[in-house]
Amino acid sequence: MTRNIERMRTRLQSLGLALRPHVKTCKNIDIARQLTAGQPGGVTVSTLAEADYFFENGITDILYAVGIAPGKLAAVADRMARGMALRIILDHPQTATAVARAAREFDTRFRVLVEIDADGERAGLRADAPELIEIASILDAAGCHVDGVMVHAGGSYHCPDADSMQQMAETERASAVAAAERLRQAGHAAPVVSVGSTPTATFARDLTGATEVRAGVHVFQDLVQAGLGVCEIDDIAISVLTEVIGHRSEDGRLLVDAGWMALSRDRGTADQPIDQGYGLICSEDGEALDDIIVTGTNQEHGIVGRRDGSPLNLDTFPVGTRLRVLPNHACATAGQHDGYWIVGSPDQARRWLPRCRGW
Ligand SMILES: Cc1ncc(COP(=O)(O)O)c(C=O)c1O
Repeated sequence: MTRNIERMRTRLQSLGLALRPHVKTCKNIDIARQLTAGQPGGVTVSTLAEADYFFENGITDILYAVGIAPGKLAAVADRMARGMALRIILDHPQTATAVARAAREFDTRFRVLVEIDADGERAGLRADAPELIEIASILDAAGCHVDGVMVHAGGSYHCPDADSMQQMAETERASAVAAAERLRQAGHAAPVVSVGSTPTATFARDLTGATEVRAGVHVFQDLVQAGLGVCEIDDIAISVLTEVIGHRSEDGRLLVDAGWMALSRDRGTADQPIDQGYGLICSEDGEALDDIIVTGTNQEHGIVGRRDGSPLNLDTFPVGTRLRVLPNHACATAGQHDGYWIVGSPDQARRWLPRCRGW
């Protein structure tokens, strides 16, 4: 984990950019402190529960990077009144109107980034959409801060090679910069140009005009990132510890006590050249057993076998054998758990790091 954090830090330093880590991956303050060390200190969150947790633990500069639901504006105003430097995002004139109404009702000057869409993958306005200026005008008239734009090129998760990843990073950057430029020409200061995902942050060659990068999953990395060429399997810093509870001699598979509750249902590698099932199996000390994966799951059962379906030598995995499962998607798997045991630290002491939960 420390190596992953350092690598991203060095990379962004070389591009001259600050990291606003997305802490929805770790949801833990000790890890967030490590991620923000030497950085301006702000974080990105995906729920107000995360915002509260990190604020209670001393982080004040928080970007809530899911399009704001009008029903949450009272809660946002309340947090701002209590000193949280909370920014929200939106991409629809109707949301801007709701924010303007709430600004008057709660006497709050909301701080807003307009979400820009680089790849048609999820949310956001295209950089040339007329609504961009309309939204900014609505917010401005209500005394809110149009702080700039943010974009997340989720399409980077489907890029087949380094070239297309670099291109995606450039599309992400160019969309954000073009949108911010339009806001500035319309008279809004728009100082923030926030970009990023772990794949685009890893492959970007130039991020001129961006002001911050929001990578998150790089902290642990996972099998999806390894499948994209963003990291190596050996970089994956998170696993689920499990134990062999039975043998299926009819098809040469093992049963383990980690099912989809422990691993999540994420099958993010299903569309990649190497399908890792529900996770790749390692020995207890973390050595990947290359072609052994979790082939199926029930709630608390995992079925473990070879990727090609050939039988395992069950004698090498007696009942009680401890194994680790590397996750497809670190955020989803970590989200199934209350916290982390840190293993392999220099002093070999095991430490428990809790995660915040809920919304
Ligand atoms: C808005 C936003 N920003 C940043 C990120 C971080 O990207 P990654 O998980 O690839 O590090 C995400 C992840 O989903 C996101 O939704």
